[in-house]
Amino acid sequence: MNAITSAPAIRTVHVPLGERAYDILIGPGLIARAGAEIASRLKGRKAAVVTDENVAPLYLKALVASLDEAGIASAEVVLPAGEKTKSFEHLITVCDKVLEARVERNDYVIALGGGVIGDLSGFAAGIVRRGVRFVQVPTSLLSQVDSSVGGKTGINSRHGKNLIGVFHQPDLVLADTDVLNSLSEREFRAGYAEVAKYGLIDKPDFFAWLEANWKAVFNGGSARIEAIAASCQAKADVVVADERENGPRALLNLGHTFGHALEAATAYDSSRLVHGEGVSIGMVLAHEFSARMNLASPDEARRVERHLKEVGLPTRMSDIPGELPPAETLMDAIAQDKKVKSGKLTFILTRGIGQSFVADDVPASEVISFLREKHP
Ligand SMILES: NC(=O)c1ccc[n+]([C@@H]2O[C@H](COP(=O)([O-])OP(=O)(O)OC[C@H]3O[C@@H](n4cnc5c(N)ncnc54)[C@H](O)[C@@H]3O)[C@@H](O)[C@H]2O)c1
Ligand SMILES: [Zn+2]
Repeated sequence: MNAITSAPAIRTVHVPLGERAYDILIGPGLIARAGAEIASRLKGRKAAVVTDENVAPLYLKALVASLDEAGIASAEVVLPAGEKTKSFEHLITVCDKVLEARVERNDYVIALGGGVIGDLSGFAAGIVRRGVRFVQVPTSLLSQVDSSVGGKTGINSRHGKNLIGVFHQPDLVLADTDVLNSLSEREFRAGYAEVAKYGLIDKPDFFAWLEANWKAVFNGGSARIEAIAASCQAKADVVVADERENGPRALLNLGHTFGHALEAATAYDSSRLVHGEGVSIGMVLAHEFSARMNLASPDEARRVERHLKEVGLPTRMSDIPGELPPAETLMDAIAQDKKVKSGKLTFILTRGIGQSFVADDVPASEVISFLREKHP
């Protein structure tokens, strides 16, 4: 390890995927050091930096300057912010820019932004010239703890979210924890739902640590870095065990079946619900549903709800502003979700905090009665 990466405040999580192995660096000041970190690890000296209109005025200049200083020439692509950017139209724009900038296979696409920019530019990096290198500089909490790790990339189709894409692992992830200070509190909280998720999946001690330390995580500093590093480690472990989601990687979908149905029910209107908020409500529902199926004590669900509520996340369907469609419509959305096999539903259920498992034979009739109870 070189002198730069061993700076005390920086945490490194290694993702050991053989020839696709990479490091995730987590800590303050990483945008300013991005050029040096990239130049010391990757051969190429050309980059296309992709970002969005919110992030560009805040961090693009600093990133480009740092690349410049390290002798890396960069082209810039600034796209509109928001989920709609994960489209064919913007994919074409990014691919064209990458080719225009003469980014060769050893050069790289750099994603500077949240999960939208990461998913879209990772997809472009995966298909231009049959794959160029890819560096993630995630700037939202959600992207630092979730979407920048694991190599799932893609765009949305009119048939649903994330339906078109490739697996393309990044070569390096630089999670600069300072940039989270400009994230809205609501977006920070939404990302926090995914942090809590790792505890709920299989790390009960981490969940208990979050219950005790969440304020420090929100305030920044070393507790925040710890929580992000623990989350990246948790995700990396799952990805290494099952890179292409043939089995246990599905655990990362805890809370997401209900959450996605609620996102669809609100037409992806971020003024009503953002992804992490849907996941928060979805995780409470998954624990309550598990209790209803006599798999877990209802106390576990209450404890999950208490914590998520305390940090300010929505935990009930009634917390979503505006009218929700009836239980039957939510059920249709669940049935259309890709986790359905021959009539039976695949759900991530739990025996308690940190004891989740993949259940692939959940009767639809149980789900619909549960939804009717929760949303009469
Ligand atoms: N690939 C995966 O494994 C994976 C996993 C989870 C989620 N995702 C995807 O990630 C996307 C959601 O990611 P997201 O929540 O980061 O959304 P996002 O990229 O839309 O970012 C959220 C908002 O915050 C703004 N923003 C980002 N960083 C900022 C900063 N530092 N300061 C101020 N504003 C900032 C963005 O401009 C945007 O308006 C979804 O499309 C989802 O499907 C992918
Ligand atoms: Zn998620």
